[in-house]
Amino acid sequence: MSKYVAILRPLYRFPYALLSVVKRKFLKYFLAKPKKYNEIINQINKKGFADCTELFSQVCHSDLKKIEQQIERKVKPKIEKSFLRFLNFHLDYELPKTFLDLSQEISENFFKHKFVRLESTQYQISLSNTDDLPGMGYHIDDYGGILKFYVFFHRMDENNGPFRILTKSKHFMSFFKGFVWLWLTKLNSTYFESTKIDKYILDSEEKIFCDDFSIFAIDTSFLHSSSKIMKGERRVMVLIFRDYLLDLNKKKCSTEFITG
Ligand SMILES: [Fe+2]
Repeated sequence: MSKYVAILRPLYRFPYALLSVVKRKFLKYFLAKPKKYNEIINQINKKGFADCTELFSQVCHSDLKKIEQQIERKVKPKIEKSFLRFLNFHLDYELPKTFLDLSQEISENFFKHKFVRLESTQYQISLSNTDDLPGMGYHIDDYGGILKFYVFFHRMDENNGPFRILTKSKHFMSFFKGFVWLWLTKLNSTYFESTKIDKYILDSEEKIFCDDFSIFAIDTSFLHSSSKIMKGERRVMVLIFRDYLLDLNKKKCSTEFITG
């Protein structure tokens, strides 16, 4: 970011932040209830995540597995020390249509309208040889308007870095906090010290454990964190859906590798 753009940022972010918080706070009252997937959506709204594995067909599962094996073979040698993030892998590897259609449909019901798009994807491999992986520490990915689908390709337990989520953090970002966050916070500093989080929220932490090959929908505007991998590795595909109703902030989508 150039020096001048950085100085002007609070000015041009102000109307954007104001419009966004008003939209996110009040628009939901005018939208009709979701027509489908009510049970899943209730769970996401209540605790931030829901297991959607059973909604996806066996064919979809095996197609995803094949794609994952191809990507893993190709990208694993690129890991420098402990992790790799392959951003927007879907541009190089075509995802099954049934998988995309169903995750889009669940997202549209979650956001209660059709203005939802797949913003980006990530394929992640993380190894157990470090304390310092991306996403470590409680943070939010946005102030509402985001739903991610995580495809875990192996059993997740205490040892291989389960996803951690504070299930009572839905209202952690109040209207005012959300406004200030959108206005002044740069997207690379979305982390919160544990001391800044109320105890009852901290105590609501759940870890997502699951069987080999599972798909979860997660609202990452809840506070969440990755956790240390004690043994083995963690391989996951992530699809990021965005509510773009009135959203002016359209991101570019291109493939990229981040390794560390
Ligand atoms: Fe995150």
